[in-house]
Amino acid sequence: MRLIREPSVMQRLARRWQRQGIRVAFVPTMGYLHEGHLSLIRVARRHAGARGIVVVSIYVNPTQFGPREDFTRYPRDLQRDLNLCRSEGVNVVFAPDDEAMYPGLHQGRYSTYVVEEKLSAIMEGASRPGHFRGVTTIVAKLFHLVLPDVAVFGAKDWQQAAIIRRMVADLNFPVRIVVAPTVRESDGLAMSSRNTYLDPEERRQATVLFRALQYARQRVRQGPVPATQLRRAVARLVAAEPLARLDYVAFFDSETLEPVREVRAGTHMALAVFIGRTRLIDNARL
Ligand code: PAF
Repeated sequence: MRLIREPSVMQRLARRWQRQGIRVAFVPTMGYLHEGHLSLIRVARRHAGARGIVVVSIYVNPTQFGPREDFTRYPRDLQRDLNLCRSEGVNVVFAPDDEAMYPGLHQGRYSTYVVEEKLSAIMEGASRPGHFRGVTTIVAKLFHLVLPDVAVFGAKDWQQAAIIRRMVADLNFPVRIVVAPTVRESDGLAMSSRNTYLDPEERRQATVLFRALQYARQRVRQGPVPATQLRRAVARLVAAEPLARLDYVAFFDSETLEPVREVRAGTHMALAVFIGRTRLIDNARL
């Protein structure tokens, strides 16, 4: 397995693979890898084939964090991540630093961004202004450097995957986007690097996101429910946990992300909940 730090080295290698007709499957991550990431790597390997290349990027992207968010305390452990990647048969890890990815960012010189304007305005985008501008910018840059045939994203970030798909279609990236299922702990909590912030009591209460999804699924099994009514019921369920604070819950079409008034089986639900200081998200098709 090779570790690459320099964007120009990554791009030169990717262009060589392209000339040689080698298939490249790519998993962009912010590191501190867990079983959810490893499942994305296994999906990438299936798409690359035995003779293809799997590239994993590890980069905590500063431009997708708001000024009062957790950029500085986001967990990082490159050595541990490298060991996990090696044991999964990853071929290349690309782990650049801020100066390499955004020259002059911290001196205010970096000034080019990629902005998706529609899907980025709702849900996570409304709660975290600028977040998706950072995501689309870094993913576009990574695609230019890794030149993947396939890129694998997790369904836990459903809105992110929809926005990346939109960007790829709108900007003619020759990349197939694959979305792999959310991996959960045995009590239903979706795996996330941010789960490491939770103390034992917070960790217990954090299952409320999964329970809210389960509850909504049960409700719509009995027939359509007005979104306003289901939103109130989910808010009550979340409020029953003393450390939990609902940020938003949304009901929408899985493909278009258009909000619905009536929630029925097959409608998508997403929610964001603060557990203490930690903000967690989850979603599911009901
Ligand atoms: O989903 C993530 O981990 C990040 O948003 C991504 C896609 C790696 C971009 O920084």
